[in-house]
Amino acid sequence: MASRVRLTVNGQVHELDVDPRQSLLDVLRERLDLTGTKKGCNQGACGACTILVDGRRIVSCLTLAAMHDGARIETIEGLANGGELHPLQAAFIEHEGLQCGFCTPGQIMSGIGCIAEGHAGSPEEVQFWMSGNICRCGAYPGIVAAVADAAGRT
Ligand code: FES
Ligand code: FES
Repeated sequence: MASRVRLTVNGQVHELDVDPRQSLLDVLRERLDLTGTKKGCNQGACGACTILVDGRRIVSCLTLAAMHDGARIETIEGLANGGELHPLQAAFIEHEGLQCGFCTPGQIMSGIGCIAEGHAGSPEEVQFWMSGNICRCGAYPGIVAAVADAAGRT
């Protein structure tokens, strides 16, 4: 039986009937066409699917959409303000914090969470608190520099 959920995603309200077994990641990608959030491992190990739910960063592949009725969700698609990039998006470009880009939406959403938690005071701190976000291209120096830099500006 379907579950009715109300999700506010990037400021837009969606009322949906979802399969109670469907992950939040699959609902975002397959029902709302928000494919910026990536599916890497689908088992909580890579961080590619990181989003913010009520301001907290979570891996969306490990949580069911039906558990989030009433939640406020932010994904990579909601960050830019018109033509203006979010400061962390701009910092990723500036510091070349990416190569193929597959992990990047998750890295950026996680970075926003990391900064908001007050865990981005130094490159070492960023490394520790972003350790759940894997980059197979090894763009870590740029990722850490971008988050630490944006933390100083936001
Ligand atoms: S796809 Fe969710 S942690 Fe890898
Ligand atoms: S930029 Fe390719 S996986 Fe991170």
